[in-house]
Amino acid sequence: MPTFIETQFPIARLSAESYKERKANNGQTLTRLGKWWGRKPLILVRASILGMLMPASNNPKKDREIYLKILTMDDAGTWERCKPAVQRKTNRDAFDDLTYAERIATCERPENVAGPSENAWVEINAHLSTTATCLPELIEQLGQRSFGHTPRVGDSFCGGGSIPFEAARIGCEAFGSDLNPVAGLLTWASLNLLGGGKAVQEEVMRIQAEALQAADDQVTQWGIEHNDRGERADAYLYCVEVKPEGSDYYIPLAPSWLVGEKSKVVARWHRVAGSDRLAPEIAVVSDAEMKLYKAKKGATVADSRVVDPFDASRTWSVEALRGSAGLRHWTNDDVVPRPGDVFQERLYCIRWIDAQGKRRYAAPDAGDLAREAKVLVLLRERFVEWQRAGLIPSKAIPESGAETDRLFRERGWTHWHHLFTPRQLLTLGMLAGAAETLAMRKNAAQAACLLGLGRMADWNSRLSAWMFHKGNEKGNQAFYNQALNCHFNYSARPFLKLGDTFAILGESSGDSFAERARVCLSDARDLRETCDLWITDPPYADAVNYHELGDFFLAWSEKQLAKAFPEWIPDARAELAVRGDGEDFRRSMVEIYKNLTRHMPDAGLQMVMFTHQDPAVWADLGMILWAAGLKATAAWTISTETEAAGIKRGNYVQGTVCLVLRKRTANAPGFLDEVYPLVEDEVKRQIASMQALDEDGEPNFNDADYQLAAYAAALKVLTQYGNLDGRDVEHEVFAVRAKNQKSDFQAVIERALGIACDTLVPRGLDASWRELSLVERYYLRALDIESRGERRQGMYEELARGFGVTDIKPLLKSDKANGARMHTPSGFAAAGLAPIGSATGDVLPARRGRASAAAHPFAASPLRHLLFAIRETAGADNSPEPGRQYLRDTFGQGYWGQRERFIGLLEWLAALANAEGMNEWTTDSEAARILVGRLRNDHA
Ligand SMILES: C[S@@+](CC[C@H](N)C(=O)[O-])C[C@H]1O[C@@H](n2cnc3c(N)ncnc32)[C@H](O)[C@@H]1O
Repeated sequence: MPTFIETQFPIARLSAESYKERKANNGQTLTRLGKWWGRKPLILVRASILGMLMPASNNPKKDREIYLKILTMDDAGTWERCKPAVQRKTNRDAFDDLTYAERIATCERPENVAGPSENAWVEINAHLSTTATCLPELIEQLGQRSFGHTPRVGDSFCGGGSIPFEAARIGCEAFGSDLNPVAGLLTWASLNLLGGGKAVQEEVMRIQAEALQAADDQVTQWGIEHNDRGERADAYLYCVEVKPEGSDYYIPLAPSWLVGEKSKVVARWHRVAGSDRLAPEIAVVSDAEMKLYKAKKGATVADSRVVDPFDASRTWSVEALRGSAGLRHWTNDDVVPRPGDVFQERLYCIRWIDAQGKRRYAAPDAGDLAREAKVLVLLRERFVEWQRAGLIPSKAIPESGAETDRLFRERGWTHWHHLFTPRQLLTLGMLAGAAETLAMRKNAAQAACLLGLGRMADWNSRLSAWMFHKGNEKGNQAFYNQALNCHFNYSARPFLKLGDTFAILGESSGDSFAERARVCLSDARDLRETCDLWITDPPYADAVNYHELGDFFLAWSEKQLAKAFPEWIPDARAELAVRGDGEDFRRSMVEIYKNLTRHMPDAGLQMVMFTHQDPAVWADLGMILWAAGLKATAAWTISTETEAAGIKRGNYVQGTVCLVLRKRTANAPGFLDEVYPLVEDEVKRQIASMQALDEDGEPNFNDADYQLAAYAAALKVLTQYGNLDGRDVEHEVFAVRAKNQKSDFQAVIERALGIACDTLVPRGLDASWRELSLVERYYLRALDIESRGERRQGMYEELARGFGVTDIKPLLKSDKANGARMHTPSGFAAAGLAPIGSATGDVLPARRGRASAAAHPFAASPLRHLLFAIRETAGADNSPEPGRQYLRDTFGQGYWGQRERFIGLLEWLAALANAEGMNEWTTDSEAARILVGRLRNDHA
């Protein structure tokens, strides 16, 4: 019997909820524990598990209603999630009239409310024949029915822990494992801290607060953050400086010397007699002056060149300054640059705060420089012992890493502690020591302190760029993106600014579900746990180099981690990490998914999440899962990263594809010639059912969803066979192919896309569609998606694949990644894609027929001639005569046979300008409208 998710999934509502969760930033449940890349939204995990456990009945509408009720995503549930203050101010009918995204903007997230109301439970139980009063009870009962026990959900690539965490929270037995110890720690903490119950949570909070206090007392006693005016440091700003050949002085580097836009503070540099060091002046300037600095006035780095602050015509290439042999590589005991190093470092500004909370920026004075020197002495005194004890990093950075090689090249850094200033090492190391003593033998507190230190490291390193925009004057986190970026100016946070970062738990939630979960560190190939549902989100095509980025954190915790979790290997084991997209990748993936399939009952299900749109990637992943003994039963895309208002049309949609799979228990042989018609039927059936859902209410699907459905339909058909035309699937996965040679599998998948593209006829063009050539269909479909706001170039390429059009460049006015548009009829003229020949085989009269640079098939198509006629009309001040004459000349007697079709196409083009964002069509649409009138009244 199929489950709910194998028949439908409320894509639009889930996309809106996932997006809302993402936008909560630090308000997301797991982000406070620490950085991991690509955490899945919890609502998506919850919805997936429920969808995999809830059976589908023969009443899809009712199923959907009940499913949404369980998630409090039905209309009543959404209203109940509304905050009371909003409910008091809002009329219920008006609320229900809003779009779903608008409604939930004022609601709590489903995870933060008690769950369905009593009334809702009555309906849920009636439909599902259950007796639940809360989500865990329902999960238990559904699990018992399908598997005879509480359902067991596993994730072999658990990363930041979303999947096991949510599974345990809603009542499943959860199992999570990952290769990376940092991921293991994050997942362990999500379950054992957030799900550890009140007593554990309160103890963790107490120990973290005590550690922080002890460290703060020490900082105060050392006197390294306080000045003589009774102020305490609130931010330290450092920069790199360099003395290029021909310069008498060191040039401090920054791409902007604006310190604060709101506070209107800038840094200026002055020569000092008898010194080769410039002196900083920190000044408050006028609005006008501030704007100049915002526009990079005085910047000493621009376009990868160092600029002399006193003579902007003197510049040096940064690359050349590093020298042909590259920078000196730092050794373990280096914590600051050595005197002869190309790049030096200096403190140039401090923000102070007084007892009244008043802040001011100032250049460092002699007292400050003495405190800096003291910091260095204090660190040096402790350095060796702290490295030995693992309170500060000692681990070397891999030189050949995809992300880490730049640290060697750009700064000469070779060890992770080189990414931190002495002040940062001293304060973090001292806190690590205090935490270790207080958390001794208390796993939860040890984990919390290690994660707290990791978060502090993220916000407090030489990779923390100083931000000065608007009121946001602070150091940024190192991982504002998925890379290790070196900056020329950066900030260090004093202790005052770090407390909040160290504390992992905001408050005690009292939630207790740790006993339902288990976490281990393992290569996914070696897992021996059996789970009813495997939900995985594998690393794909090197999107994120987890093993390298994770080491930034692991460097701070490896030795402590080994004490807290002796059974874990505190190493990223990079050689085992799944990565790339070549043969090694495919081999590991087949092995891993075979292993998971072996460790799943016949009635079990899997969900594989990933993000690629490219059919080659689909074909690859499909073959991997096929070879692993799985068959696809459904696929859905959830938009997780887009503006709520633009979920269906935003430029930067980042869809997560959720592929649902079952174990293939029979291995019947398949034959290509039988497969094609089956794929065609399946694609059409799938699209028709989606269109029916779309017409039933809010739009659920966009073009990408339909294309995806086509791939999924092809996968569904193919993966039920044990082999294809006698060829073994595994053999096919690893068959060596020439660069552009397609596997049969890929050919079937692309064919499915073609069928989908052809099934989706733009509204109003049904009558003439079949008679158009593929390239004409492509042009019209591309205009159709453009008129619905689609601007992602990838989508235009994807569509082209579906229609078998290989060269779309001459048809595109713009091929910007997120600004793709098609040419208008007038636009084509300028672009040089002139119409060639005529439909009757005659050559065009010379006056019109400029030879096209490349004989693109579109140039010879009747549609291209029609567009030309529109342009002729527009060019003749909307007199339709030249356009009509052109068509008659071109098509000869054939004109009369085509007239009705031309009228249909012209009408469609005439309506284009009405769509939002299609202003470029105003003139040509009007010309098309006029030409239609003329053609209608034309007589032989
Ligand atoms: C896309 S992430 C998973 C994110 C996770 N679903 C979440 O919500 O946070 C992929 C994970 O696979 C892990 N990984 C890579 N190779 C592995 C292997 N051979 N065995 C187990 N885990 C591996 C990486 O460390 C990374 O955490």
